Amino acid sequence: MSKAKTPIAFGIDIGGSGIKGAPVDLTTGQLTAERVRIRTPQPSTPDAVADAVRDLVASFDIPRGTPVGVTFPAVIQHGVAKTAANVDSSWIGTDVDALLTERTGHDVFVVNDADAAGIAEMDFGAGQGRKGVVLVITLGTGVGSGMFVDGKLVPNAELGHLPLKGDSAEKYMASSVREREELSWKKWSKRLQKYFSLVEFLFSPDLIIVGGGISKEHEKFLPRLDLHTPIVPAGLRNEAGIVGAAALAQRATAPSGDASSTPAPKPDAKKAPATKKPASKTSSGGATASASTARTKTTSAAAGTSAKKSAPAKKAAPSTRAASTTTSASASTTTSPSATKSAPTTKSASAKKPASTSKPGSAKKPAAAAKKTASTTSKASKN
Ligand code: BGC
Repeated sequence: MSKAKTPIAFGIDIGGSGIKGAPVDLTTGQLTAERVRIRTPQPSTPDAVADAVRDLVASFDIPRGTPVGVTFPAVIQHGVAKTAANVDSSWIGTDVDALLTERTGHDVFVVNDADAAGIAEMDFGAGQGRKGVVLVITLGTGVGSGMFVDGKLVPNAELGHLPLKGDSAEKYMASSVREREELSWKKWSKRLQKYFSLVEFLFSPDLIIVGGGISKEHEKFLPRLDLHTPIVPAGLRNEAGIVGAAALAQRATAPSGDASSTPAPKPDAKKAPATKKPASKTSSGGATASASTARTKTTSAAAGTSAKKSAPAKKAAPSTRAASTTTSASASTTTSPSATKSAPTTKSASAKKPASTSKPGSAKKPAAAAKKTASTTSKASKN
């Protein structure tokens, strides 16, 4: 009867304004039930958000053993939030993984939101089959990034906090800044130009994928950008976080346990697809469901846990936030983008980067930074 070979995982996307969740078919990247969205509590403290996540999970009948992935908009190192750029600062140092596992009764796998969106793009969107260095940049309240080297995730790249104009770049060119300052598309594109030129100069990506809600309006700003690197809109829209979190959770709990790469989905899920439980939206009803799944979850977690704990090897996270990261580096890097800018435009995905992109004096430091990234990568892939 359970010819349900379909690998299903549950994805939850925690954002500044909403928390969304749905089960995901990992062969197609499609949601298998209508997603549920609840408002992010304000203030978005760990306790309040954990309750909201519990309620969301409780509104579904999630079969035993279904991996649950959760995105979070911060550096997540081994399940612990290390930063809190756009969420309540009390998250810093919180073991998000442990908190949500305890509160929901499921073994939860937590991942940075942009990393999750990136995974979704690599698996099901604009990054499918792409080798080399692929950067997925999400433009929203903040600016997130997912960095992939030959399909392997380099976790927590945090390129939204590259220094630009004396501060974190996201404070200058996030989508929220465009709205707040009521920038025209032209003006905002100029800011994006500076940012993406810097990114391009530092990382020499083979492809840049632009995600976030604003990516659906990509034709208003992407054609204005003059880069060597192909830059394309994300293939997934609102559901990228949910899909990526689910994919990562499934991967992390699979026997191979490699959460950093993006292999084909494993057909070993013996679970029936999760269905939305329309009736019981209350936490009490859900508490039972959660509790009943908790035990199995723990069992399946045994395989997953080791994978999980060793999976996302990361760079040392700034102990507090972006602002501190920013200050030291800004002087050396902000000059480079204008230097690189002189080169040809490239917009189509097939366009090639000319041989000489780099430039002047400031080249030293960026190169070092890029090397550092490369070494982080191999670390990340060790699991
Ligand atoms: C955070 C990132 C996050 C991005 C998008 C940034 O401010 O530092 O961790 O991915 O916002 O939410």
